[in-house]
Amino acid sequence: MLKPHSWVLRLGHRYVRDDRLTTHVGLVARAFGASGIYIVGGEVQIKESIDKVSERWGGPFRVELIEEWRKVISNWRAQGGIIVHLTMYGLLVSDVIEDIRSAQKDLLIIVGAEKVPREIFDLADYNVAIGHQPHSEAAALAVFLDHLYRGQELKITYDHSKLKIMPHSRGKKVLSLEEEKVGG
Ligand SMILES: C[S@@+](CC[C@H](N)C(=O)[O-])C[C@H]1O[C@@H](n2cnc3c(N)ncnc32)[C@H](O)[C@@H]1O
Repeated sequence: MLKPHSWVLRLGHRYVRDDRLTTHVGLVARAFGASGIYIVGGEVQIKESIDKVSERWGGPFRVELIEEWRKVISNWRAQGGIIVHLTMYGLLVSDVIEDIRSAQKDLLIIVGAEKVPREIFDLADYNVAIGHQPHSEAAALAVFLDHLYRGQELKITYDHSKLKIMPHSRGKKVLSLEEEKVGG
């Protein structure tokens, strides 16, 4: 189990327009070691797509569709967790990651879409930049989690998976754990 535990809070999802990217943020969160994601204003289809991946490739990973993000932040803080906001305006990840990791507290990692409300910058314990250039919430989240977990997240094994990749230098080999046979 990776420590500290982390959840992602996806803010600013734009109806339909951001469906694919928000789904990718969820998949990145799952694959890079977070325990779940809160999606503000996301459609049920986004949750279904991410849940479907967890069903086939294992979990646990939770997806919660929410409307009220302030409550999530205040509950998180009340339970002793800390808040990290990923933004290109923040402090460089390599300068703060040691502090964040050594706090040994559960992390709520906020990523935005187009524009993040100003108050998030004040609510966050850390405003963290993955470099000071604009790029993508999916990329920012992946790099942050990789720094946080020092690459160990890439070795995670998931419970109750139906499929498992058998690494191969060229071909595609996938073990179907349900049927106990190798396909590819
Ligand atoms: C399309 S970007 C908007 C860029 C935005 N102006 C900002 O504050 O980073 C959407 C989200 O991606 C993340 N993001 C983009 N570039 C980033 C960077 N260099 N460092 C950290 N997060 C970044 C932030 O969470 C941001 O809210």
